[in-house]
Amino acid sequence: MAATRLLLLMAAALVLLVARGSDAQLSAGFYSASCPSVHGVVRQVMSQAVMNNSRSGAAILRLFFHDCFVNGCDASLLLDDTPTTPGEKGAGANAGGSTFGFDLIDDIKTQVEAACPATVSCADILALAARDSVNLLGGPSWAVPLGRRDATSPNATGAATDLPGPDSSLDRLVAAFAAKGLTSRDLAALSGAHTVGMARCLSFRTRVYCDDNVSPAFASQGRQLCPASGGDATAAPLDASTPAEFDNGYYRNLVAGAGLLHSDQELFNNGPLDSLVRLYSANGAAFSSDFAASMVRLGNVSPLTGSAGEIRIDCRKVNS
Ligand code: HEM
Ligand SMILES: *[C@@H]1O[C@H](CO)[C@@H](O)[C@H](O)[C@H]1NC(C)=O
Ligand SMILES: *[C@@H]1O[C@H](CO)[C@@H](O)[C@H](O)[C@H]1NC(C)=O
Repeated sequence: MAATRLLLLMAAALVLLVARGSDAQLSAGFYSASCPSVHGVVRQVMSQAVMNNSRSGAAILRLFFHDCFVNGCDASLLLDDTPTTPGEKGAGANAGGSTFGFDLIDDIKTQVEAACPATVSCADILALAARDSVNLLGGPSWAVPLGRRDATSPNATGAATDLPGPDSSLDRLVAAFAAKGLTSRDLAALSGAHTVGMARCLSFRTRVYCDDNVSPAFASQGRQLCPASGGDATAAPLDASTPAEFDNGYYRNLVAGAGLLHSDQELFNNGPLDSLVRLYSANGAAFSSDFAASMVRLGNVSPLTGSAGEIRIDCRKVNS
């Protein structure tokens, strides 16, 4: 009797493992026979885009995060609104952002389709482009597990609830990451993406007017740029010291009380992540290797694989 129960339990555990291990189906060599040129095509387009405007790299990196946090890394974010279905682009965290990230994905997709028709998913293109963005801006590189497929519908509700906002507390941030199977160490490392790119006044107003854990000089600079009301769209670099360089400047800012977003400074506010922030601020190599590992983990959040979903031809709409 006990033995049967044990067997049943083991069988159940196995089923659970197999089900949860769907990300194990992703592999770096997924396109090595069907589209070996995809790596070069993505790199080439990203390289030109980043040379023209470093912000492109930041925009793509952010899109990858926002895609993966809503129904997993399935390119659901890239779907445009339709008359019947609102997409994810209108959700608070996505609205008002730069649209050139979406245009850039379209450029890459067009070239990839020319080389390998109906073969490479938009979700994989985004994962490769995010990796290349980081590396082109001076950050680490890593092998990107591939084989994701594209969603056939967006989740506007998920986009409104699952992406934490800039006024989030540490508890809220940790919970949002835990809900995607990511740890607080992943949170600490992935937040280092804010070493590049910009945020609008709208996003950092609370920080420079209301927080007390802020460097006075930094807050006063921020207030000059960002009026107490109005001017919502005025942008400031997330890492003012080296805005276009993927380095550990973000963590040095946090230690100095100069995180731009309230949520940034929550990582270093006499809490459990202080020691990691100190480590990353002092040791760029430790940050780089943790960041790369956490990007792979982010990319493993609930991908569609096998025959689920589809390979979208146009990243903005489902195949007809
Ligand atoms: C931990 C929770 C996070 C919060 C609350 C957050 C919030 C924000 C906000 C409010 C902005 C500025 C948006 C604007 O005002 O236009 C921003 C920008 C950005 N975020 Fe995050 N973020 C988080 C995590 C991440 C992660 C994990 C990544 C990537 C791995 C990322 C990548 C970026 C990048 C690159 C930008 C700059 C985009 C640009 O210049 O266009 N963020 N984030
Ligand atoms: C270069 O960047 C500008 C914005 O700075 C953008 O308007 C333009 O489309 C970009 N050109 C190319 C070829 O990417
Ligand atoms: C949309 O996202 C929410 C929040 O994660 C989730 O509860 C819901 O099941 C998702 N809906 C669909 C249709 O996937």
